[in-house]
Amino acid sequence: MASYGVVENMFVQELARNGQDPPLPYITREDDRPTNVSSPASPIPAVDLELLFSSDGDSQTSEMDKLRSALHSWGLFQAIGHGIPSSLIDDVGKIAREFFHLPTEEKRKYSKAVWREGNETDEIALEGQVIEWCDHLYLQVLPEDERDLSCWPENPSSLREILNEYTKKIKVVIEVTLKAMAKLLDLEEDYFIKQIGDKATTFARFNYYPRCSRPDLVLGIKSHSDGSGITILLPDQMVDGLEVLKDGQWVNVHAIPYALIINVGDQMEIMSNGIFKSPVHRAVTNSEKERISLAMFLAVDGEKEISPADELIDEDKGQPRLYKKLKVKEYLGVYYQNSLQGKRSIDWAKV
Ligand code: OGA
Ligand code: NI
Repeated sequence: MASYGVVENMFVQELARNGQDPPLPYITREDDRPTNVSSPASPIPAVDLELLFSSDGDSQTSEMDKLRSALHSWGLFQAIGHGIPSSLIDDVGKIAREFFHLPTEEKRKYSKAVWREGNETDEIALEGQVIEWCDHLYLQVLPEDERDLSCWPENPSSLREILNEYTKKIKVVIEVTLKAMAKLLDLEEDYFIKQIGDKATTFARFNYYPRCSRPDLVLGIKSHSDGSGITILLPDQMVDGLEVLKDGQWVNVHAIPYALIINVGDQMEIMSNGIFKSPVHRAVTNSEKERISLAMFLAVDGEKEISPADELIDEDKGQPRLYKKLKVKEYLGVYYQNSLQGKRSIDWAKV
């Protein structure tokens, strides 16, 4: 694509370093531009994961209530009491920053994993597609035996070990969250764990948002909902940038230090028959500071089918089935195609 030569095989970071204003393919349509963000009237609810299964009945009930209310009103919550040491969280931030600060030539060694929209000519060939102000490092972390270690950077040297440690902790967070969500729906505690299957996949996506001279014109990540079951985001400890669409308004998500942001994904919306909604969110940039985040996407085994839980469907009680039964792989294919065009896929899954 000669007309886009300027962005081909170029990291956004390089554009940012040159201090140049964003080239045309990065400029979002006028109605998508990140203006008019309101700060949350009430902060994003925090849920203490440890209390969700506390032996003290009262605190357990009250924490479950908080989770229910957060999922109903926001589709996301900040998780505290998650058991991940702050030092490990700091290490994750550190290796991510170190990796993205490596010379471009070094990062190119991992170009299979250092993926970003626009790197592939085919992808930017889509008419009207706006490119995001973000570089990614995208690695499958689970199941362990499906890791492609040739994509895992050896530089910084502790990256593999730290990501492995962090993944182990996240696995526990995922389990606790899925159990609590099943309980909220009066399903068997292991319902979602069984649904996602033995071959549940988890991808780690490090997002790197360089500073941008015109944050009013670009988006770090365009408006989307995640195609996952659930997503566990480790936000930047210093810099905000995640926004969630609530009641038609973009709201800045400001996290408590060392909290994780956990959100419902499309697969969970389907399995819960729409009781849990996968929130629409985006990431914005700023002109002062770069920002880093790590999203862990948990998805159902691609070979499996998902469907709303039978227990949640009752025509007589006015709870009709809202989503079709569909193969996860097929959903993700549709999701990927749609997301290139900035479209959501959940409507496609509706009956
Ligand atoms: C994502 C995402 C938000 C962020 O990676 O899907 O929504 O704050 N990231 O980086
Ligand atoms: Ni997302």
